[in-house]
Amino acid sequence: MSIGDLRRDYRGAPLFEDDAGEDPHALFERWFADARAQEPDPTAMALATATPDGRPSVRTVLLKDVDRQGYVFFTNYDSRKSRELAHNPFGSLLFYWRSADRQVRIDGRITRIADAESDAYFVSRPLESRIGVYASRQSAVLDSRETLDRLYEEAAARFADGQVPRPSWWGGFRLVPDEVEFWQGRLHRLHDRLRYTRTDAGRWRRERLAP
Ligand SMILES: Cc1cc2nc3c(=O)[nH]c(=O)nc-3n(C[C@H](O)[C@H](O)[C@H](O)COP(=O)(O)O)c2cc1C
Repeated sequence: MSIGDLRRDYRGAPLFEDDAGEDPHALFERWFADARAQEPDPTAMALATATPDGRPSVRTVLLKDVDRQGYVFFTNYDSRKSRELAHNPFGSLLFYWRSADRQVRIDGRITRIADAESDAYFVSRPLESRIGVYASRQSAVLDSRETLDRLYEEAAARFADGQVPRPSWWGGFRLVPDEVEFWQGRLHRLHDRLRYTRTDAGRWRRERLAP
């Protein structure tokens, strides 16, 4: 069978305007609760960033907090994504939840969270992950796996007392959404798409899009 012949039907429950409501955050919370019950990796999301001249790049990160303010993830502030965000703060997040044939795209401006917020999350991480942050200059070229293992051992020895402070070059970002689109897969490719756009008045306008 060729790749082109690989296909399956999407048979999700309908996404009606009345059920979706006026508030994209509330709908996200409901869909996220469903994903939590069904998906192995419900917090995994693609994050797209771009250079100022419009060359995009995308990678997976984990959602670590969400509320009415926005969507929070953590990373190395010297990584490629962070360098792109320093020059172009606009990004896009994408969740694909296969078990319910659902996708959510969230576009907006991405800014660093407060140091105190990053500190609070950093101390909650397992010791090995905190040490690992010191061993990895994320997105820099490494000459070998052995080098990474050696850097980890050196960091582990340095923090043998288990006190590992958050380095200034690692922390969180928050995407503050100005557009959120919910996609529900349906039969015959007649999917439901509802897009919420933030208006100047700080409210949300909801529109149905063709699939
Ligand atoms: C399931 C999964 C979860 C990941 N979570 C994170 C994360 O939360 N933060 C992070 O910096 N990288 C995470 N990564 C690694 C990123 O995809 C990426 O390789 C890394 O951040 C470097 O990206 P960059 O060079 O584009 O900055 C994850 C990868 C996968 C597959």
